[in-house]
Amino acid sequence: MVAVLSSVLGFPRVGAQRELKKLIEGFWAGKVSEADLSQQAQALRVQHWKLQRDRGIDQIPSGDFSFYDLVLDTAYQFGAIPARYQSIPTGFDQYFAMGRGLQGSIRNVEGEEVQIDVPAMEMKKWFDTNYHYIVPELSTNQEFSLNSQPSIVAHFSEAKSLGIHTKPVLLGPVSFLLLSKGADHEAAGDFELLKLLPQLVPHYRTLLAKLAQAGATWIQVDEPYLGLDLTPTVEQAYQEAYASLTQDLPGALRLLLTTYFEQVDDRMALIAQLPVHGLHVDLIRHPEQLSGVLAKLPANWVLSLGLVNGRNVWKTDLDAALQLATQAVDQVGIDRVWMATSCSLLHCPFSLEFETKLDPEIKDWLAFSSEKLTEVSILRDAINQRYEGTETDTTNPADKAKVDAVLSANRASCQARRTSERVVNPAVKERLAKVDPSMLKRNAPFAERYPVQTEKQHLPLFPTTTIGSFPQTKEVRSARRKYKSGAWSEEQYNAFLRQETEKCVRLQESIGLDVLVHGEFERNDMVEYFGEKLRGYAFTQNGWVASYGTRCVKPPIVYGDVDRPQPMTVEWSVYAQTLTEKPIKGMLTGPVTCLQWSFVRDDQPRSVTAHQLALALRDEVSDLEKANITTIQIDEPAIREGLPLRRAKWEAYLDWAVSAFLLTSSSVQKGTQIHTHMCYSDFNDIFPAIQRMDADVITIENSRSDLKLLRAFEQHGYYNASGPGLYDIHSPRVPTAEEMGERLQALLQYLPYQLVWLNPDCGLKTRNWTEVESALRNLTETARVFRQKYANGNTN
Ligand SMILES: *[C@@H]1O[C@H](CO)[C@@H](O)[C@H](O)[C@H]1NC(C)=O
Ligand SMILES: *[C@@H]1O[C@H](CO)[C@@H](O)[C@H](O)[C@H]1NC(C)=O
Ligand SMILES: *[C@@H]1O[C@H](CO)[C@@H](O)[C@H](O)[C@H]1NC(C)=O
Ligand SMILES: *[C@@H]1O[C@H](CO)[C@@H](O)[C@H](O)[C@H]1NC(C)=O
Repeated sequence: MVAVLSSVLGFPRVGAQRELKKLIEGFWAGKVSEADLSQQAQALRVQHWKLQRDRGIDQIPSGDFSFYDLVLDTAYQFGAIPARYQSIPTGFDQYFAMGRGLQGSIRNVEGEEVQIDVPAMEMKKWFDTNYHYIVPELSTNQEFSLNSQPSIVAHFSEAKSLGIHTKPVLLGPVSFLLLSKGADHEAAGDFELLKLLPQLVPHYRTLLAKLAQAGATWIQVDEPYLGLDLTPTVEQAYQEAYASLTQDLPGALRLLLTTYFEQVDDRMALIAQLPVHGLHVDLIRHPEQLSGVLAKLPANWVLSLGLVNGRNVWKTDLDAALQLATQAVDQVGIDRVWMATSCSLLHCPFSLEFETKLDPEIKDWLAFSSEKLTEVSILRDAINQRYEGTETDTTNPADKAKVDAVLSANRASCQARRTSERVVNPAVKERLAKVDPSMLKRNAPFAERYPVQTEKQHLPLFPTTTIGSFPQTKEVRSARRKYKSGAWSEEQYNAFLRQETEKCVRLQESIGLDVLVHGEFERNDMVEYFGEKLRGYAFTQNGWVASYGTRCVKPPIVYGDVDRPQPMTVEWSVYAQTLTEKPIKGMLTGPVTCLQWSFVRDDQPRSVTAHQLALALRDEVSDLEKANITTIQIDEPAIREGLPLRRAKWEAYLDWAVSAFLLTSSSVQKGTQIHTHMCYSDFNDIFPAIQRMDADVITIENSRSDLKLLRAFEQHGYYNASGPGLYDIHSPRVPTAEEMGERLQALLQYLPYQLVWLNPDCGLKTRNWTEVESALRNLTETARVFRQKYANGNTN
């Protein structure tokens, strides 16, 4: 090969119109047959491969497709199926049970009809993204095997039969083990898990041999952990794993070690020793690492440059990207450099072509996955043309005039965005400059605040509440569509929302919950809703990205300075409060989560955007309080996921994240109770920061992880009130009161009973009313039992 190639690390599997989601959910509902599921999923893969080929991608990924999650697929492929799923026959039932739990009757492996009730495996955030992966559970004597499903080899052959030679993507063995956890609820450290390498790697070798047999050449081996903090044990594991992996490597195979989200220039001593054939680096997160990487890149290795952001929506500054590319080509030569996306495009929406309502000025600044394919191939062509005389054996190269036209249009868009008046709002900048430390502190300590709040809201022992949202049913979504399409007037839509809100309030009263919510029927999404009400935000019609399983989210886009033209939530909270004597909890999304779950502008530090959001939300908190809504939840589920991947960078992030929360929450009177909610957080990591947030009540999404989170509470001494989720809302299983009681009892080992709240672990929008009602009735039953048990402080 004598030309630079274009490469993509992964493509959004869900499809242009979320076809895959609809298909799989149809299968779960019994409306799509297994055969149709397989066939239509294949059709979608074919479409995506062809699209990439037509847009000029040379190294097209295969094996980036999944019915639920790629880490789950890796576990499934290597036979790491926890014992509790082993009575379910191999196939979709078993696979989906691992991802989402299963409650119902199935035919077991013996062919008998049996009742089964198994919870799902734990989910965790994929590094610092908002995508959740399934955490493999491995036992100390774990045995692996190579299953034929899900078949990465078959996918490669599928593409090959269309004349598309793909680059299979594997999650590397070291990262796979480091993403896993011990099966027996014991925290297995790195050491324990990495001990499994000798059992695991031979199956990777078999898989590689099969891929070679099928005709594969380049294999993308994802090892994102290479960029994280490495212990000597992990370094050694890398050396041993890759030595073993490449034993008897079929001659035609080439391994591209793939890193993203962090820098690896300071890891080159280790990386250069590994017997692979190329390296991919993320030059979006760390463009400055290029020199260090080039200095130590082994001769003959390919260097894949992550120049097109796989996680954000802005057009690539092609001139800047070409500068980096030129630096690389000058040093290692035209035949050893690839132009690539920084990471998989999984985290980026499908295509701008469906955005008919975006302001044209803003739309011109954006590129989604399909447009990014073109950027990657234009970068390739531009470089190849600069080093003229190179033969181009690449896919669909554009001629020089076209490349020049694209480059100059790109230059104009980037320039326009930098100077647009829509981006800069001097009033916001001025207000932010005036924030002083007194605005970041509550006016009384918790010990003084909490009794006042308890009395004001007449709260019993073990108060019960929910996290905010109630079922977003077909009716709710259809009403929103009718309103957005103009078929319903605003009055019609609001009348509908009032009716739903009332139904929700009445149900909560009848169940006997203590602190009620309005249900959030007016909200499409906890971030997009606020985005739509704030200035500086744009939102899309079809900008979906995968969140977990089949679930997608549609992050809004922060393009300019943010402020709040008028109250955003007060009307609905106040309406709900008119319906009941019980306190209504006002529901806000916190500044860090708004930031984390949006596509954020890349032309100023994230901390500045977070504080602009905080000021807007601070005004909302004040307006709620003025309207007598004196329980206010400020959700920060995303605070942990924003944590930098290397420890050395944590403190700086936590400082501004906590300060943004405090700026939002601290204006209130002591009788006003501030709740916050967090998700899948490994609290040990950030405990001191959570304490500094000084919320009155923290509710935690914890039920799929285990009690180790709560040990952190004990260890660090959490003095304020908390509601660790008593059941997992991501699963359709309805827990019994007894089950939740056992969980609560276990929690009370770590938390003072006077300060414990009872609640589900997350919002209920993805569940149906039947499930919600049964689960919450059981929850209040648990509260009743425990109130009796603990009356008069009697804890026996
Ligand atoms: C809030 O409650 C106070 C005391 O109950 C009452 O005097 C005031 O009118 C209420 N304000 C609003 C806006 O409802
Ligand atoms: C809770 O309350 C105590 C006492 O008022 C206070 O010092 C502390 O910062 C608060 N937060 C946590 C997490 O303990
Ligand atoms: C709600 O979900 C449960 C369990 O997932 C299911 O059995 C039930 O039919 C659903 N009810 C409605 C009204 O959709
Ligand atoms: C709770 O939910 C289960 C369904 O899982 C139901 O069978 C049970 O009767 C409910 N009630 C109690 C008190 O657990």
